[in-house]
Amino acid sequence: MAKEKTIYTCNECGGVTPKWLGKCPHCEAWNTLVESVAQSNVPAKNRFASLAKTAEVAVLGDIAATDIERTPTGHEELDRVLGGGIVEGGVVLIGGDPGIGKSTLLLQALDALQRSGHSTLYVTGEESGAQVALRSRRLGLPNSRVLVLAEIQLDKILNTLEAIQPMVAVIDSIQTVYSDQLTSAPGSVAQVRECAAHLTRAAKASGVCIVLVGHVTKEGTLAGPRVLEHMVDTVLYFEGDTHSSFRLVRAIKNRFGAVNEIGVFAMTEKGLKGVSNPSAIFLSQHAEPVPGSCVMVTLEGTRPLLVEIQALVDSGGPSPRRLSVGLDRDRLAMLLAVLHRHAGVACMDQDVFVNAVGGVRISEPAADLAVLLAITSSLRGKPLPKGFIAFGEVGLAGEVRPAPRGQERLKEAAKLGFSVAVVPKANAPKKPIDGLTIHAVERVEQAMEIVRSL
Ligand code: TYD
Ligand code: MG
Repeated sequence: MAKEKTIYTCNECGGVTPKWLGKCPHCEAWNTLVESVAQSNVPAKNRFASLAKTAEVAVLGDIAATDIERTPTGHEELDRVLGGGIVEGGVVLIGGDPGIGKSTLLLQALDALQRSGHSTLYVTGEESGAQVALRSRRLGLPNSRVLVLAEIQLDKILNTLEAIQPMVAVIDSIQTVYSDQLTSAPGSVAQVRECAAHLTRAAKASGVCIVLVGHVTKEGTLAGPRVLEHMVDTVLYFEGDTHSSFRLVRAIKNRFGAVNEIGVFAMTEKGLKGVSNPSAIFLSQHAEPVPGSCVMVTLEGTRPLLVEIQALVDSGGPSPRRLSVGLDRDRLAMLLAVLHRHAGVACMDQDVFVNAVGGVRISEPAADLAVLLAITSSLRGKPLPKGFIAFGEVGLAGEVRPAPRGQERLKEAAKLGFSVAVVPKANAPKKPIDGLTIHAVERVEQAMEIVRSL
């Protein structure tokens, strides 16, 4: 191996210093220097040279666009977010809170792949072999042929990968792996980045598909999976709260498939089971409508999902709080301003809490209208009608903008028995949808007016 020494690289300007300093001598930014490895005979720019399969210039249209071959994992919901299955030499990062089910899902997937004749390796740095074995028994996978390696030292892992050449290897987790070349502790930004870069290079060079497990750390995900997102081909995140049995796995980035695709699982005593028809699982069961609740249809992947948005507006202290769970807090502040300015509904002296039921995270602006209707419903103490749904983006001028693929959303709502909808004008279908009364609106005031008259 090349002679390696430790240097410090600035996160801001990329400048290099031989020793650690509080302030970067190049760009003068504070606390940006991170330990890294300088390889004396390999210039830094050649770091990913092995990724380039060819150095010849070619006309784009002449390059044969062979479709990537994918191997299904046998878990339909996981394959959905992976874009059909695992890809040779692909690197997948799977992130999520501790205890949410990352190890469980991957052990299940490896076992299914092994049973269908592919070689697999599970590298565990968090649990001993015995603990993994115990988990596999609990999962109802006795006599599993998955190879297990309890190891945290990078070089040993790389050597084993080269010796065994499995089809898929899971590294659980990247935060426990460390390289001897660096003095910083496992789990630090420097270690996580360096180890992931080596593993990525190994995957590209050998064709092994590598799945990296990353914990999202409580402190703003600094040393967590975030620092790796640009290096890997696919980034999946677990969503859902650990108290409910449902888990969502969402593709945030995918070089081999669509992003924002969602896989839905239920945690059972036999591990994670795919939920093939998940559209109604994020509704809480109220016998009668309650104030502060509005159902919306979200469509971030290919499947529509009905999600209940809850709001609680309550008289606050001198500095009222705005809190949101599963929705963007800045967007909530903006919506409250729009509500005040354009619909004349003031919450200035009130605490406002909003929540997307079931731990689901909604990033699309189509939730805006449902958030506003839930807030006004809570403020007035008046429930929305039974079987009511709403969706649509709300702009600063008080206009209600269309959501993509409105028809599909409405059809799903009708299928689940919803009967009244308030939607953006451009989303109103030309032909009526059976069982659904649709009110098309162009402005927030209009939506408020319609809801009051229902
Ligand atoms: P785990 O996969 O260990 O989480 P992570 O690797 O993301 O930290 O999941 C652990 C949780 O799942 C734990 O709280 C117990 C629960 N669980 C079940 O409910 N059923 C099962 O069959 C298994 C194996 C775990
Ligand atoms: Mg784990």
